[in-house]
Amino acid sequence: MVHLSVAMAANANLKASGKLKGAIAVAIGGTSGVGKATAVALAELGASVTIGGRSAQAASAVLEDMKKRNPEGAHSFIEVDFTEQKEVRRFAEQVREKHDRLDFLVMSPGQMRMTGREESSDGVDTKLALHYYSRFLLIRELLPLLQSTAERRDRDHRPHVLSILAPGKATSGIKYEDMELKTSYSLEAAASLASNYNDAATEKFGLLYPNITFTHMYPGLVDTNITRNLPWYAKGPSNVLMKLVGTKESDFGQVSAYVLTEDGRNSVTSAGKNWHLTDQHGEEIAKLKYGTPEVIEKIWEHSVEVTARSA
Ligand SMILES: NC(=O)c1ccc[n+]([C@@H]2O[C@H](COP(=O)([O-])OP(=O)(O)OC[C@H]3O[C@@H](n4cnc5c(N)ncnc54)[C@H](OP(=O)(O)O)[C@@H]3O)[C@@H](O)[C@H]2O)c1
Repeated sequence: MVHLSVAMAANANLKASGKLKGAIAVAIGGTSGVGKATAVALAELGASVTIGGRSAQAASAVLEDMKKRNPEGAHSFIEVDFTEQKEVRRFAEQVREKHDRLDFLVMSPGQMRMTGREESSDGVDTKLALHYYSRFLLIRELLPLLQSTAERRDRDHRPHVLSILAPGKATSGIKYEDMELKTSYSLEAAASLASNYNDAATEKFGLLYPNITFTHMYPGLVDTNITRNLPWYAKGPSNVLMKLVGTKESDFGQVSAYVLTEDGRNSVTSAGKNWHLTDQHGEEIAKLKYGTPEVIEKIWEHSVEVTARSA
């Protein structure tokens, strides 16, 4: 288990080494919560960070914080609605125009809601879009940049893609006749499916692209603003629970930045595997329950098909 103090000490050493100066990070979901915490921690380590989200107001506070911690970094914000695939493609295009390398891609856009299925113009449930399909699409759109960065071999670390959600939390298998939950939607089914799909894609991306690291990480309970859209009777108790036992955002940022940069996991010379499912302590969790090679292939084909709708 990675203790916070271990992560903080390693991060302090990395910062002092100056090794991340000039590194480029993109954090979609970087305007709030666990994405913001990771973006700020990477900026502190020396990276220049571009954050994505809808709220320009929230973004300006994050940019200010990053500038204070790393005045030399070229930090920026790209406004994007991540529920729409054409917006994801535009976001990726802007990233490609802006940067000639990409060392860290952090993805944590999400929402907590108690309502049923809501379709985007791609015909995809918006929560599943935020938690999975748009993340899958963004990785594929940025792969050329990630690969060209890996091929330079000018850093100690491989490019690293981090999806923050819920590894190993699938509670049921996949219904192949309804892989988007068009007819069998429930909050539990949507959570299970997003966990399973992120796990499967993490493994498959890792196998296809050995010079890039892919991680699906569980944040644990972190005291963020995620309950903002819940009805009052659910928001109150959730907020009390988060305040009482939730991790502080900045503490989570220390651990997620450590997971992204830790030598054992991400060194270019590491002989270990390059895809990981980790808990909130950065500890590897057991391989997924519903992740046979056949299931992973089905999920991959399905994800390519769904995200091709906007091509
Ligand atoms: N906090 C926890 O305890 C916890 C536990 C387990 C899993 N998670 C998962 O971790 C992820 C992040 O949670 P969090 O606690 O950091 O939540 P948060 O503080 O509410 O942050 C959510 C982020 O998602 C972005 N977002 C939401 N809708 C968007 C849209 N349509 N387009 C673009 N960006 C959008 C928000 O940006 P804008 O508002 O600027 O659009 C914000 O940056 C979620 O997927 C959540 O399910 C969190």
